[in-house]
Parts: sequence; structure tokens; C-alpha cells
Amino acid sequence: MNIKKIASENYKKFCFYEGSDYIASEFALETLLKLITVFNIKSVLEVGLGIGSVADTILHLEQKQSSGIDYYGTETNEFCLNALRKNVTHYEKIKLFPDIKEVPERKFELFIIDGSDDSLKVIKKYTNRSSIFFVEGDRKEQTQTILRLFPNHLYVNVITLRKNPPYAHEGRAVNSYIGGGQLIFVNPTLKMIFYWLKEKAGTFIKIKIRKWSK
Ligand SMILES: C[S@@+](CC[C@H](N)C(=O)[O-])C[C@H]1O[C@@H](n2cnc3c(N)ncnc32)[C@H](O)[C@@H]1O
Repeated sequence: MNIKKIASENYKKFCFYEGSDYIASEFALETLLKLITVFNIKSVLEVGLGIGSVADTILHLEQKQSSGIDYYGTETNEFCLNALRKNVTHYEKIKLFPDIKEVPERKFELFIIDGSDDSLKVIKKYTNRSSIFFVEGDRKEQTQTILRLFPNHLYVNVITLRKNPPYAHEGRAVNSYIGGGQLIFVNPTLKMIFYWLKEKAGTFIKIKIRKWSK
């Protein structure tokens, strides 16, 4: 399964859709597919479905692998709700809610935070011992809220040395680095600790390379 290929093809496809200014980065899509594969994720809650680039990418992988992922998401914006219906190939697989507190109580293995939600603090009741959070881009306030909720967390800012393609949006200049994300393991298992260590070292080295190559 070529995760990089799925992420880059889906990212490119979504860049040409109406309202695509705020879609998740290609690197974020790739990071999410990697997490889903490595940790055999079967349940996802995406906060802020937007126009559906993340959901469509993950459900694309899910179809290829027949992995049976339960996909839940939140969205209230009228334009996005219409776009989701048009853009997400397996739209019928999304269990859609206006915000987190409306989601029926159950546990999720992966949380993707890519939108604002005043009820983020209630998210704790939806987590299990080994839940993972991925916050797209910076979103400092939401990241801090999650870190405070889970004192045993391991946290890493994942970044890449790749640059934005010419069709990227939202002031993502062609010569600037593709945006990263915030990866949080709320109660890390041994496998998660190794994964985190590798990402932590990777980020450290990439920051140095970014500085040297300025
Ligand atoms: C960063 S977007 C989420 C993007 C989504 N994860 C994706 O990759 O398609 C966060 C929020 O911005 C709002 N939003 C995104 N695109 C929009 C648009 N074109 N018009 C209006 N609101 C938008 C939605 O409410 C959405 O939940």
C-alpha cells in the first residue's frame, strides 16, 4: 500500500475543489495514513470535517485495505456540509454530528483535530487508554487543552523538509515547507514510545537542517 501516493493524489485532487483554502496539508494526510496503518486504527473522530479531504483520504485507504474503520466527524458550516456530500467518495460511511458533545458516547482510537469546537474539553470521555490525537497545523490553544487533559501524554510536533507544490493554497508559498501537525499519545504503549522517539529525533534533525539551509 503506497501511503505517500494516496496522500499526494488526494491532496492534489482536493486543491482543485471549491473552498479548498483550508484543507489539511499533504504531509498531514500522509502522517494520518501512517498512524492508521502502524497502529491498526479502527475508529476515528475528526473534529472539523471541512470539505472532506482528510475523511476522503482515510476512507480511500479503508476501502483498499477493507480495514473496517468506523469514521465519525463533526461539522456545522453549511458550505462544508454540502461540499462533503459531493467530495467524499464514501460519504455514506461518515457518521456526522454538529459538534463533539452530540457524538454518542463511545471510545475512539484516533482523534483528528482540524476545526474549532467549544466542547473540546468533553473529549476525554471518548478516549481509551491508548488513544492518539493528531492536531493539524499549529492550533496551539487546542493542543494545549489536550495536553492539559492528559498528564501522561507524549507529544511531538511532526514536520517535513518537503516544500509546497505549486497548486497548494492558503498562502502556502511554493518555496515554503509543507505544514506539519501535533501528535499526542495520551497514554503511550511501548510501541507508541518507540514511534514518538523516532518522530522526536526526526523533528530535531529537520529543524537543524531547516536552519542550516536558510
Ligand atoms: C481547516 S477546516 C477543516 C478541513 C478539513 N479537515 C479538510 O481537510 O477538508 C476547519 C473548519 O473551517 C471551516 N471551513 C473550512 N473550509 C471552509 C470553507 N471553504 N468555507 C467556510 N468554512 C470553511 C469549517 O467549519 C471547518 O470545520
